[in-house]
Amino acid sequence: MEKCKISVLFVCLGNVCRSPTAEAVFRKKVEDANLAEHFFIDSAGTAGYHIGSSPDPRAIARGQLRGYDLSSITARKVNVDDYLEFDYILAMDSANLAHLNRYKPEAHRAIIKLMRQQADTVALNNVPDPYYGGEAGFDEVLDILEIAAQNLLNEIKQNVIKH
Ligand code: 4NP
Repeated sequence: MEKCKISVLFVCLGNVCRSPTAEAVFRKKVEDANLAEHFFIDSAGTAGYHIGSSPDPRAIARGQLRGYDLSSITARKVNVDDYLEFDYILAMDSANLAHLNRYKPEAHRAIIKLMRQQADTVALNNVPDPYYGGEAGFDEVLDILEIAAQNLLNEIKQNVIKH
């Protein structure tokens, strides 16, 4: 990873539905803002069930309908180096966030927080897990992540300007 870049890691449970979608949506926002050369963007899961797999076919298909490309993403598990290498680690729900905080090394670099931060309560800020539901759940995830990704990009741009 080139350290002059701003590095952003999206994390869910399996790294096959929500976090690869977040990765693709955020990447497109960054590209549309002509900022691609300044970012390193990745995703991972807190569980290892799907290591080496492509994203869920429903996530690929629903994303493609909105112009997002998830096809080259391969699932991996979060590891201790991620805490040291990434500037931002965004959890899709409170369980993912609890896992990230439980295993974080003392001397970590990353700002670790929830991806969605609009509502007052943690539960409402979860990106709901669409894995056991239908296609509509994947569209809801996209709706949520399109807003959250724009908010995140705005926040990062503000932080860079401040420093
Ligand atoms: P994700 O969804 O965390 O958004 O990738 C899930 C994927 C797989 C499983 C659960 C959630 N699973 O139990 O295998």
